[in-house]
Amino acid sequence: MTGSKTFYLTTPIYYVNDVPHIGHAYTTLACDVLARFMRLDGYDVKFLTGTDEHGQKVEKSAMNAGIAPQEFTDRVSKNFRDLVSLMNFSNDDFIRTTEPRHIASVQELWRRLESAGEIYLGSYAGWYSVRDEAFYGEDELTTSPSGKKIAPTGAECEWVEEPSYFFRLSAWQDRLLEFYEQNPDFIAPAGKRNEVMAFVKSGLKDLSVSRTTFKWGIPVPGNPDHIMYVWLDALANYITAVGFPDESGEYAKYWPANLHMVGKDILRFHAVYWPAFLMAAKLAPPKRVFAHGWWTIEGQKMSKSLGNVIAPETLVNTYGLDQTRYFLLREVPFGNDGDFSHKQMVQRINGNLANDYGNLVQRSLSMIGKNCGAAVPQPGAFTEADDALLGAARNLLPIVRAEIRSQSFHKALDAIWAVIGDGNRYVDEQAPWALKKTDPARMATVLYVLAETIRHLAILTQPIMPEASAKILDQLAQGPEARGFDRLGAGGALVAGTPLPTPQGVFPRYVDEAKS
Ligand code: MSP
Repeated sequence: MTGSKTFYLTTPIYYVNDVPHIGHAYTTLACDVLARFMRLDGYDVKFLTGTDEHGQKVEKSAMNAGIAPQEFTDRVSKNFRDLVSLMNFSNDDFIRTTEPRHIASVQELWRRLESAGEIYLGSYAGWYSVRDEAFYGEDELTTSPSGKKIAPTGAECEWVEEPSYFFRLSAWQDRLLEFYEQNPDFIAPAGKRNEVMAFVKSGLKDLSVSRTTFKWGIPVPGNPDHIMYVWLDALANYITAVGFPDESGEYAKYWPANLHMVGKDILRFHAVYWPAFLMAAKLAPPKRVFAHGWWTIEGQKMSKSLGNVIAPETLVNTYGLDQTRYFLLREVPFGNDGDFSHKQMVQRINGNLANDYGNLVQRSLSMIGKNCGAAVPQPGAFTEADDALLGAARNLLPIVRAEIRSQSFHKALDAIWAVIGDGNRYVDEQAPWALKKTDPARMATVLYVLAETIRHLAILTQPIMPEASAKILDQLAQGPEARGFDRLGAGGALVAGTPLPTPQGVFPRYVDEAKS
């Protein structure tokens, strides 16, 4: 690790009014894969996640639960920390917006905005959705049969009229558009970038950034009757975690963040409000915001009332951890909406994992175990077919790197699975079991080529499936020091004669109980 190349990436911080579900696990998983990838690729990574604990929504949930907001948030925030170990996430920090470090950071951000003349006191009269913690214009709303005002997200809105501080967002319209033009990769995918730009072009109104009708939040410095708007509070977590307001140390090292990963529902906050707040406070905006799609369950929207909310534990207990991680990032082109179905999950487990990857590994390693004295075989001269397979494996890194770095996880996996397919065809064509009697030296070469291909595959699948990949690398006697991407290619090649442990299956088939 050189320490000179840094990569800072963040998940949204999760509202603690809810228990974690597959949607939350998805956002953090995508970041985890990217963080692991960048570390293996030699970067000094900071990967942040956490919980969003203030605001009216959380205050209401605490009230409904009959406990004080702080006790409530302590309890529910823990569910999100438990999700970290359940899903094997490798975050370097877990921030809670109720922590003193965050309160100090948000208040300093406020002061800087105020002293730059970007905030003024006025009064707000308009619609607010507690569920979305967002303000809506009359023109954006529809009326339900019972006369309620409904936001485009389906959330109910209420009329709010109170004194409020405003952020001069309207003044940032042109500078934001200029910023998007100059930084074409700032918002991804491209379709989402167009949506955001159209929204900004349609005109920005000043944004209400404080409320006086509830208490659960960070007081405005100098006017504690006002509680800061929960989105201003929440977004600032990204700079708190690198030490803001101290701008030396981690802030100097990691800010601006390389990537904020968000769901499509919260893109506007990250791609419009957040860079405007930062630029107004004379701080650098982040480099990129990626908006991923939403999961439905067996074709239906996930909702408590439908009772179809999937807890990440259920997936992990039913299908296995690495299987779940693999499915979520392989099934759907990242950025699109996707549907979770048991049938598709089983097909992926039995097809891609058991039949393709698992079978390649298992048959190769068990032949080596039985026929090569349980040690890395000694290869002879390579044929064209050998070179083709080794070449494909050794050329994977730049392909996979480009896809992962543009958050095309599914394409990175397609590229890896193309080589798994090549490997399986190579085994069938070379038929090492037949060579055992006719040409044992050639058999040893074929098995060496396979082992070396598998070494590449297992190093590259570590970010997605850390446990399964580690088991495969154990079986190739590749210790922790031999697992970085610097070991890919001929330089890190397996050494003939290295003793290997007894092979064991890594990707079991999933059998539906009803059918077994
Ligand atoms: N607290 C805010 C974020 C503040 S960031 C400064 C918030 N929290 S949330 O808990 O409601 O949502 C967090 C993330 O979960 C969002 O990125 C959202 O898109 C994601 N998902 C929630 N349900 C989802 C699905 N059904 N599918 C995929 N992701 C979903 O918003």
